[in-house]
Amino acid sequence: MKEQSLPTLGEFIIEKQMDFKYSSGEFSRLISCIQIASKMVNRFINKAGITNVLGEAGNRNVQGEEQQKLDVIANEIFINALSQREVVCGVASEENDDFIEIRSGANAELSKYVVLMDPLDGSSNIDVNVSVGTIFSIYRRITPAGTPVQLEDFLQKGTNQVAAGYIIYGSSTMLVYTTGNGVNGFTLDPSLGSYYLSNPNMRFPEDGKIYSINEGNYIKFPQGVKDYIKYCQREEENRPYTSRYIGSLVADFHRNMIKGGIYIYPSTSQSPRGKLRLLYECNPMAFLTEQAGGKASDGFRRILDIEPTELHQRTPFFCGSRKMVEKVEEFMRNAPE
Ligand code: AHG
Ligand code: MN
Ligand code: MN
Repeated sequence: MKEQSLPTLGEFIIEKQMDFKYSSGEFSRLISCIQIASKMVNRFINKAGITNVLGEAGNRNVQGEEQQKLDVIANEIFINALSQREVVCGVASEENDDFIEIRSGANAELSKYVVLMDPLDGSSNIDVNVSVGTIFSIYRRITPAGTPVQLEDFLQKGTNQVAAGYIIYGSSTMLVYTTGNGVNGFTLDPSLGSYYLSNPNMRFPEDGKIYSINEGNYIKFPQGVKDYIKYCQREEENRPYTSRYIGSLVADFHRNMIKGGIYIYPSTSQSPRGKLRLLYECNPMAFLTEQAGGKASDGFRRILDIEPTELHQRTPFFCGSRKMVEKVEEFMRNAPE
C-alpha cells in the first residue's frame, strides 16, 4: 500500500503561522515543545505494563485525590519541557498547588505565554489500558514581560485563550489543537516519531445520538439532568440515544466530536460545583468545542465567559453537538428548583 504524504505538524505550523495573530515564532516553539513532551509521555504510557509506573504514587494532589505514578511523571515531563526551552513564563497544572514561575534569564522578554494543563486526564484508566489524555490551554500574560508572573496571568476568562488542545493516547496517539481558526487533528506515526495532519478542520456534527455521563451518580444529579437522561432514553423520533462513557474526558470528547454527542459532568448533591476544573479541563475543551461548531456551557452560561477566581476552580460541564447542548439547557431552565 502506498503511504500518503500528509503534512507534518511542524510543516502545518509554519504554513499556518500567519493565522496566529501574535508572535508566531514563539508560538511555534511552544507547540513543538508540547509535541516533544507528548511523545515522551506516550512512550511511558505505551510500556506502562512492563515498567514500574502503574498504580498510585502514594500521595494525594491538591484536590485530595490519589495521584497515579503516571500523573506525576506526565506532570514532570511537561513542566520540564516547557521550562527548559524559554517558551513560557509560567505553568499551572492540575497536579500542583500553585502556579510555577519560569525564569527565562536573558530572554525574559520573549516569554509572553502561560500554559495551564491537565497533564494526565483519565488517569484511573491507565492501569486497565484504556485511553487517557493531556489537556493544555495557552494565554498571553497580562502583566509586563520580564517581570515575575502573577496569579492574574492565569485567572483569565476562557475567551482570552490564544490556543488550546489535547493529546489522546488511544489506539493511536493524536494531538488536536486550535488557535482560534478551527480545529485540526494530527496522528503520531510511532515508527517515524512525527505527527501528521490526519483530521483537518474537525467539526462537531450539529446533532448527535451519543450521551456521555456517569449515570451511576443519577440519584445525585439536578432535576434538569435527570429529565434530560430520561429524554435520551425515550423511544421517540431518533431516540433512544446510545450511552457511552469512558471516564476520560479527552476520549469521550474526541469520540463525540467525530460521531456527534454530548458529554456531561453536572453538579451533584455532594459536589455542587461539579468535578471538572474550569482552567485545566473545561476552558480548553470549550474553546475546541466552539471552534469545532459545538457548544459548551455549565448548564446555564457559556463556559468561556466565566470569570475565574481560583486556580483549581470547578464547574459543571456540558459540551458537544450544539443541538444536544441546547436541549439539555432547556431541561435545566425548566426544571423545578
Ligand atoms: P483526571 O484523571 O485528570 O482527574 O480527570 C478525570 C475526569 C475526567 O477525565 C473524567 O471524565 C471524569 O473525571 C470521570 O469522573 P467519574 O469517575 O466521577 O465519572
Ligand atoms: Mn482530567
Ligand atoms: Mn489529571
